[in-house]
Formats: sequence, structure tokens, C-alpha cells
Amino acid sequence: MDQTQLKQQVAKAALAYVPDDAIVGVGSGSTVNCFIDALATIKGRIDGAVAASEASAQRLRDHGIRVFDLNGVSELPVYVDGADEITEHLHMIKGGGGALTREKIIAAVAKKFICICDASKLVPILGRFPLPLEVIPMARSYVGRRLVAMGGTPALREGFTSDNGNLILDCRGLDLRDPPTLEGELNQIAGVVTNGVFARRRADVLLLATAEGVSTRLAKS
Ligand code: 5RP
Repeated sequence: MDQTQLKQQVAKAALAYVPDDAIVGVGSGSTVNCFIDALATIKGRIDGAVAASEASAQRLRDHGIRVFDLNGVSELPVYVDGADEITEHLHMIKGGGGALTREKIIAAVAKKFICICDASKLVPILGRFPLPLEVIPMARSYVGRRLVAMGGTPALREGFTSDNGNLILDCRGLDLRDPPTLEGELNQIAGVVTNGVFARRRADVLLLATAEGVSTRLAKS
């Protein structure tokens, strides 16, 4: 089974978590694109979706799925999104696609966060993937210096502007052994909009695609 087939398999498995008549939270990335395509096969039994990126919103609309503004939605029973890395504790690094801020907002609203990944994303400890931070443009240098002082090596994501009009710094070398603490510390740096550690609001369920099928893991306390 190739990578695309693994993504399609896990995306289809996530449909089991979508209740009838729901507005579904939809993340972004290539695995989520497979989920959007799968969602289109059951679009008659959902009300619509809220999307974490303009790209996801467009793909949903192209399938004829109604896209809602989050401000008009009081309840989201489920949010389905991918990850760049995830641990057994269902802590994640996200933001490889630069949509981390909207992803974190929708994850915060949702009752249940279903993470869909292939097995290559499961890691014992976060940090091999460079940590994305969304940064207000005028704070780029200041945030960069603060990250260096914390032991990190930040790099500007060249030629990229987020859907919110901001920059992304990808940072290697930070100590990610305590993800909830680091997540909080990074958010205290003035000019950081969001960082890509998703630990304070981690996933509730991980659906992991392997050649042997989809395995399900629940968040450990
Ligand atoms: C985008 C994300 C994505 O969920 C993450 O990058 C995984 O993407 P893919 O499914 O393409 O591997 O956080 O901001």
C-alpha cells in the first residue's frame, strides 16, 4: 500500500466519528484532503463544515459541502485533522502546512479531536520535525532572538504568508520533552500568534494507518 492509499484508508475510517446532521471541523493538509474527499461521499447526512484553511474550504466547496464561519457555529462535535508528529500521549507538532492558528482554534472549540496519520508520524518524543510558529511580521527578529535564547535555531519559511497574513518561523533544537510547558512558554513571547505544539488541547483519538489496517489509540492520562 503506498502513502496515498494509507491516507485514503485512514481518512475513510474517520467517517465513523462523524455524527448525522453535524457541522464537522476540518483541518488541512494532504491527509485531510483525503478526508474531505471521503466526507463528500456522506455529504447528504451532514449540515456542513468549518475549515482550518482557505485551501480546505475551497476543496469542501468544490465537493458541494457547505462551509460555515466558525463565529456562526456554537457546537462542533468533531474535528478531524492530520499532524506532522504525534506521540503515544497524543501530543502533536502541527503547522507543516502553515495553518496552525486556525487549526488550534477549531480544535479548541471541538468536543472531540480525531487525528488521522500514517504510521511514520508516530514518534517517541516530539522534535525531529521543525516546530512552526506563526509570528506577526514586525516581531520576526525579536521572536527569533528569543527562540535562540531558548536553545532553538529558527528559520523563516521563505515566500510563505499564512491565511492570517503572518509569517512562519520553523524552529529546530528546542527541548520538547514537556510539550504542554513549552507550548505555554512559547505563547508568552510577544508577537507569537500560535505555536505548533498541540499538547494543552491534544487529540482525543489517533487513527493510525498501517499496511495491516487502521489502528485506534486513545489519549493516555
Ligand atoms: C497543516 C498541518 C497538517 O495537519 C500537517 O502538516 C500534516 O499534513 P499532511 O497530512 O500533509 O502530512 O498541521 O498546518
